[in-house]
Amino acid sequence: MRKGKLLVMLGALFLVAGLAACGIQGAPNFAKVEHTPIPTLPPATLPPVEEALQASAGEEGEAGAATPCRTTPVDLLQAWFEAGLPGPDAEPFTLTDLDGNTCQVTFEDVQFVFSQAGIWYDGSPACTQCHVGDPEAALGQLSLDNYEHIMSKDATTAGGNWEQSTLYDRLVVRKDMPLGRPADAPEKGLEIFVGQVVSGE
Ligand code: HEC
Repeated sequence: MRKGKLLVMLGALFLVAGLAACGIQGAPNFAKVEHTPIPTLPPATLPPVEEALQASAGEEGEAGAATPCRTTPVDLLQAWFEAGLPGPDAEPFTLTDLDGNTCQVTFEDVQFVFSQAGIWYDGSPACTQCHVGDPEAALGQLSLDNYEHIMSKDATTAGGNWEQSTLYDRLVVRKDMPLGRPADAPEKGLEIFVGQVVSGE
């Protein structure tokens, strides 16, 4: 189709040029017709653009931001229990991520897991949508919006025994939190990127 159209246009161009030559000079001037400027394709501009893109990618790579760890909400919570439930003022604790890297994470990352929507399955609510504020008034009398609140009910963390905790019971055994969690939701939640890799495998 396109090629056909181009040919028709070129034909018209030649015809007009030829007629003009006839009209003006009284005789066809084919030499002139041959030199009718035919629009050429713009010169390829891809190489410079690609170079620019590569250059900017290189800059980003060299900016050297720490590599985040690839893990899941449940793996992060388990690591937090195994580290002895460090709070917001504690040193970072370690986690082995899904790529076998040793990672450093902090309570901030744990709080992220309780406060962030969409990390358990697509469209999941944040735990803190329901477990928020004064623990006595929160749904399930459980508040997960800060360290003090999380630690205020013994059963939630069971003295650091992951498998005895109500968190483990609801997230891993019953798999019913966040409330409304579909049966086919990923067992450990979706992949999240937290903390920073400190050494490869
Ligand atoms: C839409 C509201 C809602 C969301 C979101 C929600 N929960 Fe719950 N949760 C409840 C309600 C209501 C209860 C109390 C009823 C029950 O035990 O089933 C409860 C109970 C619990 C309990 C038991 C508390 C106890 O002491 O018996 C745990 C643990 C828990 N939720 C953890 C979580 C975690 C972790 C998340 C996020 C991954 C979450 N919930 C998200 C509504 C919610």
